[in-house]
Amino acid sequence: MVSPDSTIIIVGGGVFGLSTALWLARGGYKNITVFDRCAFDKNYYNPSNGCDGASADINKVFRMAYGEKLEYQALAIEARDIWLSWNKAIADSTAGDLPAGLTPEDKLLYICGSYFVAEGPKLNDFYAKSLDAMERTAPEYRKMQFGDKEDEERLRNISPKWVEKYHVVDKINDGDINGFIDINGGITIADKACVFARFLCVKAGVKFVLGEPQGQLETLIIENHDLQKKVIGIKTSDGRSHFGDLVIVACGCWTASVIPEAHRTVEATAGTVMFIDIPKNRQDLWKRFHPDNYPVWSYRRGDGAESNLWPFSDNHLSYYQGGGFPISKEGRLKFGFRGRKFTNFQSHPTEPNLRISTPRTKYSKDPVNTVPLYGLERMKEVIAKGFPELIEFGFTDSRLCWYTDSVDNDYVIDYVPGYSDSLFICTGGSGHAFKFLPILGRHVKNQLERISDKFTPVWKWRVAEEGKENNGLSEGERGPREMSKIEMADRECPSSSIGLNQLY
Ligand SMILES: Cc1cc2nc3c(=O)[nH]c(=O)nc-3n(C[C@H](O)[C@H](O)[C@H](O)COP(=O)(O)OP(=O)(O)OC[C@H]3O[C@@H](n4cnc5c(N)ncnc54)[C@H](O)[C@@H]3O)c2cc1C
Ligand SMILES: *[C@@H]1O[C@H](CO)[C@@H](O)[C@H](O)[C@H]1NC(C)=O
Repeated sequence: MVSPDSTIIIVGGGVFGLSTALWLARGGYKNITVFDRCAFDKNYYNPSNGCDGASADINKVFRMAYGEKLEYQALAIEARDIWLSWNKAIADSTAGDLPAGLTPEDKLLYICGSYFVAEGPKLNDFYAKSLDAMERTAPEYRKMQFGDKEDEERLRNISPKWVEKYHVVDKINDGDINGFIDINGGITIADKACVFARFLCVKAGVKFVLGEPQGQLETLIIENHDLQKKVIGIKTSDGRSHFGDLVIVACGCWTASVIPEAHRTVEATAGTVMFIDIPKNRQDLWKRFHPDNYPVWSYRRGDGAESNLWPFSDNHLSYYQGGGFPISKEGRLKFGFRGRKFTNFQSHPTEPNLRISTPRTKYSKDPVNTVPLYGLERMKEVIAKGFPELIEFGFTDSRLCWYTDSVDNDYVIDYVPGYSDSLFICTGGSGHAFKFLPILGRHVKNQLERISDKFTPVWKWRVAEEGKENNGLSEGERGPREMSKIEMADRECPSSSIGLNQLY
């Protein structure tokens, strides 16, 4: 059984690895080392500087609305208080007290409002359920959510500014939209938040081995005693072996590359992210999209079932799930699309005869620097309609951001069966874990110590079941969203509507 004196190796320094390390170290664990192949001590989680993990990003949605998933709703409400205390700790610091990459002016959570939009006059079912759940379980927070005409009047009494924010995306469906704004929600500044969390880990005594080759896991070291397998450490790409009592694999979308048994537990799928850099001389737009004037929004249109029609190129552009963020300090607008997430099947690096979906990014050995046309065409249509003032700039950059989808979008945080409690999996973010960076580790620690809590049944080890929906995990390489079958946007064709950069 793991104890504060155990030697603990964590592979992966994203949200799951950082939060776990922080809560273990603060809980008295004395010997924790985090390995990551990315040199976060030099690149500060900057996604334009060699980092391709999901946590290395400019911003992420912070929301508390979780439909009927009350355990996540409650966790988000708790996380919010810690985010705000982190903001305060940074504001109260002097520049010299903060790690490189952070200044006292930086905020990690901006309460710019989080706006949930859908098409048509009637409140979207998921939104209605979210409001309802909040009303029943956290009424104080429901008072800060606004979703109909009556609510709009309440909102005006708080500030006309919020009413403006509530109408900022009206054009995306010619005004025929519904939805609600949560003025307790907002965005986290993801890269800076990870820098701060890593700093707190270091202060709590966590060691880091970062960068290639020394921080990159090559293989797990597995000992075989009387058919009883046990992980006793990891081998890194510099040829060194590191031994420990427990190895926690928090490798995000690369997790199944490290733990082959997890290939039916989590799957790497690509979301499409597009950027528009607003020139400095357009201060009017810097102002319009500033978090003080513009909320983060997410838009649902149509029915997900339609996105499974094959071939997608023939179906109507109607299905949409995606959104947009306020402008960053550097003048960057980010838009995401997750109405369809793509897979990329490759041979497993260690397990013979196994093909798994493997992330491919700008920074991979076999790099990709464009995005699937499927999502891009839909984004062009929605963004050009909602924000015609942006058409003249076109898209200035793009990214494939890889999700780690579990069969049911719940995280996977448990011992991997068959290794005598020496191997622990900590992943399955499924597109919604960033907001929990300050608090996730509290519950990871419970699972490690086998202290049962409300997440124990939800996060337990599980694999895709035959004949079940499985969140796409059982589609496999023959499935229609595999990248080899998908038309990618054309980088060389800037003036055509299939071009990557054109926004029309
Ligand atoms: C497009 C997109 C949008 C999202 N939007 C939101 C949002 O708005 N709100 C929200 O709350 N959540 C959001 N999420 C989810 C959130 O970003 C993730 O759940 C979370 O960041 C996952 O963290 P992680 O630690 O599992 O993975 P990662 O951040 O990917 O960390 C894994 C780490 O493992 C390292 N690694 C991998 N293999 C090895 C190896 N062999 N050796 C050493 N190191 C290795 C990688 O370098 C990486 O740093 C989004 C995710 C995506 C993809
Ligand atoms: C941590 O564990 C490693 C590996 O077992 C060991 O070499 C090291 O001395 C330990 N450090 C402390 C402070 O206990």
